[in-house]
Amino acid sequence: MTIHFIGAGPGAPDLITLRGRDLIAACPVCLYAGSLIPRAMLGWCPPQARIIDTAPLDLDAIIAEMRAAHEAGQDVARLHSGDLSVWSATAEQMRRLDRLGIPYSVTPGVPAFAAAAAALKRELTLPGVAQSLVLTRTSGRASAMPERETLTAFAATGSTLAIHLSIHVVEHIVAELTPLYGEDCPVAIVFRASWPDETVLRGTLATIAEAVKQAGLERTALILVGPALAEQGFAESALYSAGYDRRFRPGGGV
Ligand SMILES: C[S@@+](CC[C@H](N)C(=O)[O-])C[C@H]1O[C@@H](n2cnc3c(N)ncnc32)[C@H](O)[C@@H]1O
Repeated sequence: MTIHFIGAGPGAPDLITLRGRDLIAACPVCLYAGSLIPRAMLGWCPPQARIIDTAPLDLDAIIAEMRAAHEAGQDVARLHSGDLSVWSATAEQMRRLDRLGIPYSVTPGVPAFAAAAAALKRELTLPGVAQSLVLTRTSGRASAMPERETLTAFAATGSTLAIHLSIHVVEHIVAELTPLYGEDCPVAIVFRASWPDETVLRGTLATIAEAVKQAGLERTALILVGPALAEQGFAESALYSAGYDRRFRPGGGV
């Protein structure tokens, strides 16, 4: 049988993929990461499904559930928030399954940074302003940052930063980034993007820490930093210019 790892998206139940939803509906066992998966998604599980919140479980217990389902001939839907390619702790689960010879599949999901950009109605890369997006975080209790992956190293490029898991240290982030981006650099905080209580704060490196304090935001927020967040004077992309000769509009330049 198969363990289906599914990116459940940022929160809104209709921001999961059709493939993810259909897999949930087809699996008699569902393991989900309790804090960030909306209950509405669990409604897609078949009747009598075994539904387990993995928040209180350790890795051994999670793998034991998967193994038991596999031995009972049952497929498992394993839900994690956002997409699985970043901060989902799926790598260690897949490594254990490889060792046990249990097959698995991976279905992507909408990541938090994409939902946050949608909430802001902003593109995070703009011609001539920023053409790179850094997905990063600060050290936490569970994971220390590798020595060379510092905010100042990323900030030296001037690209857009999407800083995860760090709203509780926003003052530290402001102190690190201000010398590189300047205190007028735009910052946006998106709390629980796509949830009913989604909250957006806009400011600059000079103002954002106080705004976070006033709003009392403590977790599940993304910090976006960089000039692309407020720039209006950027050049238009050549892609749609009348003079651009491209594959699907040959001779546009003539
Ligand atoms: C453990 S990471 C999971 C990231 C996830 N795998 C993804 O693809 O975005 C959790 C962090 O992602 C960010 N996050 C997750 N969901 C979010 C949401 N709906 N709105 C804002 N930030 C979110 C927050 O920074 C949170 O601390």
